[in-house]
Amino acid sequence: MFESLKPVGLDPILSLMIAFREDPRTTKVDLGVGVYMDDRGRTPVMNAVKRAETKLMALENTKSYQGIGGDAEYNKHMLALLLGANHSVIGSGRTTSIQAPGGSGALRVGAEVITRARPNAKLWVGVPTWPNHVPLLGSAGFEIKEYPYYDMETRQINADLMMETLRSVPAGDVVLLHGCCHNPTGADLTNAQWDEITEIALERGFLPFIDTAYQGLGDGLEEDAYGMRVMAEKLPELVIASSCSKNFGLYRERTGSITFVTKNADDAKLVLGQAMSVARQMYSMPPAHGALLVSLILGDEELRSEWTTELEEVRLRILSMRTLLADSIQDNALGMDFSHIKRQKGMFSFLGVKPEHLVRLREEFGIYIVSSTRINLAGINSSNIKYLSDSIRTVLNG
Ligand code: LMR
Repeated sequence: MFESLKPVGLDPILSLMIAFREDPRTTKVDLGVGVYMDDRGRTPVMNAVKRAETKLMALENTKSYQGIGGDAEYNKHMLALLLGANHSVIGSGRTTSIQAPGGSGALRVGAEVITRARPNAKLWVGVPTWPNHVPLLGSAGFEIKEYPYYDMETRQINADLMMETLRSVPAGDVVLLHGCCHNPTGADLTNAQWDEITEIALERGFLPFIDTAYQGLGDGLEEDAYGMRVMAEKLPELVIASSCSKNFGLYRERTGSITFVTKNADDAKLVLGQAMSVARQMYSMPPAHGALLVSLILGDEELRSEWTTELEEVRLRILSMRTLLADSIQDNALGMDFSHIKRQKGMFSFLGVKPEHLVRLREEFGIYIVSSTRINLAGINSSNIKYLSDSIRTVLNG
């Protein structure tokens, strides 16, 4: 049977991760997969998570099934984290949130529910976007359409073209937006641009589908939530897929949630039933461990405050690496301007160099960068910055 299968390439980000692990050079630098690393190049377990794990060990008295929607406390805490505990829509009966296996699982549940509701809806994605968005969401049945997002020349959002395209999106279509810390460009919408898109969505009647995987890594936990909060307040319907991989460092625990804001409480009940049915058909139930930890952290004042402090350290370290890198390579033989790296948000920016530069960086210097030139700023540290910036300046020298 299986001889009929065609060979398929591995995802470009994950194959880079494997190539990096296999590279024996001790000087190698990983700017590939979007995982936070501290100044010693480690991806640590946060202290708040470690403490929650100790607490959970003592508290947990069963490993029995949790249910399709996951942990009810977790769902409640996540909704408050995303929208703010006092958001007008919370308590209105118009929201429903279930636990999902990571941000990717959340995206897929959201997509399946939307395509059940509207089988012919098209999904509009910004160019560029996270490379897995199209296969992950397209295989739920969406026809994919594109809107322009980032201008490689000016190294900022092409807001005019983006808004013009969004003004042509038909009612009933779906528009994918990144909540904050845009992956791969780091170019985030301003609050005014979120307001404008909200107005356009109202006028046109399309459904925004927000992917938020980096809340707290851009401008701060509250600031990074502006877009989803304003949309939840002003729009009749909204879908939010969220991940705890980066802001809780729970990557392998696959901890996410899918949230729907609906026109009324009856619709919310319909959506909840459909989301549970989708989950049951795909994976039956989400993994418990990560969500139980998040629930313990967000439900305990002290653990929550420790987590917030640690997350802020992560955010500030990435910010300082942005400045350090941009300043260290600004003086280069090609006269390339890297100041955009300082202006952008979250883990990623495009380096903007040519493909041949990327090949040399990888082959000669063991510096791993995704082919789009996306760099993970968290891969930079005080031990590798000189080697990294010297190597970049060397390849730009020709
Ligand atoms: C990334 O963009 O590098 C991360 O979100 C990891 C992944 O799954 O691609």
